Amino acid sequence: MRLLLASGVSLTLTFAGCLTIEEMAPPVGPEFLRTRTKNDVALSVLERGREVYLADCTRCHSVEPISRYSKNHWHTIIERMGPLSKLDESRTAALQAYVLAAHTVLAIETANERHQRMSNGLPLPQRNE
Ligand code: HEC
Repeated sequence: MRLLLASGVSLTLTFAGCLTIEEMAPPVGPEFLRTRTKNDVALSVLERGREVYLADCTRCHSVEPISRYSKNHWHTIIERMGPLSKLDESRTAALQAYVLAAHTVLAIETANERHQRMSNGLPLPQRNE
């Protein structure tokens, strides 16, 4: 994973600061089950989508944090970037499903974290989303 990051153009890295790959593109776990709008999207498809994201989408630049763009923006990005990666239909669909689900997982995590900090009387972290 680190190799992938290091080999990418460091443009994104300067923005991403010290985010780990797991923070930028969370691994598929049981929490992803809650995000599925369609029951026919299997977790294995989401896993495949993450693989596409980390392998095919990092040839020209490094990993972009998924939370950086809105879901609508991601639709446009994948339409624009998919052909650059020469993705076929099924890889594109898996990528799309993963990115949207990961977006929801990250949003839930952020909300939980903020809620917890507020309950503990701690200041809220600044996020550039
Ligand atoms: C052939 C090289 C290449 C590949 C492969 C590629 N990208 Fe890009 N990507 C670029 C370039 C160049 C830019 C900056 C210019 C632009 O936005 O068109 C960019 C910009 C982006 C941005 C920022 C967009 C914005 O609106 O600011 C995102 C996010 C992104 N790429 C995601 C992806 C994803 C997801 C994939 C895989 C499907 C991918 N890229 C594959 C070349 C590539």
